[in-house]
Amino acid sequence: MSSFKQFQDSSTQQIEAALTHHLPACHIEPKRLHEAMHYSTLNGGKRVRAMLVYATGHLLDVPTSTLDDIASSIELIHAYSLIHDDLPSMDDDDLRRGKPSCHKAFDEATAILAGDALLTLAFNVLTKTDCTAEQRVNCIQLLSQASGSRGMVGGQAIDLANEGQSISIAEIENMHLHKTGALICSCITLVACLKFNPSDSQYRHLKHYAECIGLAFQIQDDILDETSSTAALGKTQGKDQQAKKSTYPSILGLKASKQLANDLYDEAILSLSYFDQRSDHLRNIAQFTISRIS
Ligand code: IPE
Ligand code: IPE
Ligand code: MG
Ligand code: MG
Ligand code: MG
Repeated sequence: MSSFKQFQDSSTQQIEAALTHHLPACHIEPKRLHEAMHYSTLNGGKRVRAMLVYATGHLLDVPTSTLDDIASSIELIHAYSLIHDDLPSMDDDDLRRGKPSCHKAFDEATAILAGDALLTLAFNVLTKTDCTAEQRVNCIQLLSQASGSRGMVGGQAIDLANEGQSISIAEIENMHLHKTGALICSCITLVACLKFNPSDSQYRHLKHYAECIGLAFQIQDDILDETSSTAALGKTQGKDQQAKKSTYPSILGLKASKQLANDLYDEAILSLSYFDQRSDHLRNIAQFTISRIS
C-alpha cells in the first residue's frame, strides 16, 4: 500500500471516530434531525479537509486530540454546506456521495435544520478543543471568516447569482476562492495559528499552498462535472452545464483548465520547499487534488 493510501485510510478512520464522538446519538430527541445529521456527515466523502488538518498537524507536531477537533469542526461545516448546496433552491441535486441527498432521504425542512445544526455544532466543538483560550478564539475567528458571507457562504451566493450569466475568469476565480478555497484554506490556518503568527514566513508559505490547492480543487471539481460519470462521482454528472453555471472548463475549455490546475499544483509544491519531508503528506494531497477521479 502506498504511504499516501495509508495516510488517507488512517485519516478517514480518525475523522469518522471523532465525528461519531461529537454528533448527538440518533436515539436522542429529536431523533429525525439527529439521524439526518449522521446521514450527511458519516456517509463517505474523500475527507480531503480532514487529511489537510492531519497533514499540517504532522508537519507542525500538534497533538492528535486538538487535530481531531479542528478536523471535525471543518468537516461538519463542509457536510452542512453540501446539504444546503443540494437543496432545490440551490443546485437541486438528488444524489450526494452515492446516496439520495439529505432532502431526498428526509425532507427539505429537516435538511435545512440538519445543516443549521451541523454549522452550530462545528463551533461548539472548537470551544472545547485542547489549546489555550486565545488559540481557541483565533480558531473560531478564522473558521467563522472562512465559512461566512466573506467566505464559503459568500461564494455560494456569487455562484447562484451567476447562473445563466457568462462571467470572466477573474470573477470565476473569485467565486471559487470563496465557495471552496476559503474552507480548504482554513484546514491549514487553524492548525498553523497554533504555532505561528500570521506574519511569520512559515504561516504565509503554508497559507499560499492552501490557496493554490483550494482553487485547484474546485477547478478539478468543474472538470469532473464535465468528464466523469454519475457512478464515479456519486453525484449527478453534467449539472453545471444543465444549470448554466460558468465554470473553468465552460470558459477556458478542458485542456487549459487542466493546465491551470497543474500550474497551481506546481505553485503549491513550491510553497512547501521551505519545509522538510515531514510536509510530504501535504505534497501528496496536492497531487491528489488535481489527479482525483471523484
Ligand atoms: C464537494 O467537495 C464540494 C466542493 C467544494 C467542490 P468534496 O469533493 O470534498 O466532497 P466530499 O466530501 O468528498 O463528498
Ligand atoms: C459547492 O460547489 C461548493 C460548496 C460550498 C458546497 P459545487 O456545487 O460545484 O459542489 P458539488 O459539485 O455539488 O459537490
Ligand atoms: Mg453549488
Ligand atoms: Mg452543487
Ligand atoms: Mg461541482
